Amino acid sequence: MKIFVTGSNGFVGSYVAARLLADGHEVYASSRTGDQSAFNSNKNYRFIQVDFSDPFALHDAFEFVQPDVVVHSGAMSKPDDCELKQADAFDTNVFGTVQLLLNAEAYQSFFIYLSTDFIFDGEQGLYKEEDKPSPVSYYGKTKMDAEEAVMEYQHGWAIVRTSFVYGKPLYGRGNFITMIAEKLKQGSPSM
Ligand SMILES: NC(=O)c1ccc[n+]([C@@H]2O[C@H](COP(=O)([O-])OP(=O)(O)OC[C@H]3O[C@@H](n4cnc5c(N)ncnc54)[C@H](OP(=O)(O)O)[C@@H]3O)[C@@H](O)[C@H]2O)c1
Repeated sequence: MKIFVTGSNGFVGSYVAARLLADGHEVYASSRTGDQSAFNSNKNYRFIQVDFSDPFALHDAFEFVQPDVVVHSGAMSKPDDCELKQADAFDTNVFGTVQLLLNAEAYQSFFIYLSTDFIFDGEQGLYKEEDKPSPVSYYGKTKMDAEEAVMEYQHGWAIVRTSFVYGKPLYGRGNFITMIAEKLKQGSPSM
């Protein structure tokens, strides 16, 4: 299967790409910056550098790949950054997702969207799929808006509302655990 993975330099996207390659799929990994993986020698791996909030560049990428499946794990994923740079967060998380959906439509690709528990306010706990989102952060709002766009998609979709993913980075970006380890190494008392 031809699978287009966004955010492949990211923590989640790198593991998604690695897993799909191990399962024998044709992986078209993409990120805004250049490839940071060590997968280039794998014949099933291609990297496409593209900003998914650029409609023209994204159109070219889809024309080339014509994916069966899109795994959209690219995002502006840090809540603090989204709060401070709301226009950028909207562009990346909402507008970018809509551009991906519009392109996926042309090839009837199945669309998998990485979302978050931040779409909820946390008051209730133990949320179910059908519970009403009520984000308290701008990050959560952009992810909720993107989910709503995904739910309108006509050719099959899934939303993964994951929460606090951590572990050893394969390459590319770190995560909460590596950030704490770095601070400890520096002897820094604060986050
Ligand atoms: N990690 C968690 O604990 C967690 C928890 C809940 C939900 N999630 C969700 O899971 C997904 C993956 O999170 P993550 O932690 O793996 O994120 P991450 O490490 O911050 O990686 C984000 C990726 O998105 C790419 N990206 C951002 N803007 C882009 C753009 N305009 N065009 C193309 N690529 C762009 C980045 O590319 P460059 O590096 O090349 O700039 C990077 O590869 C996100 O949707 C996030 O909201 C994550």
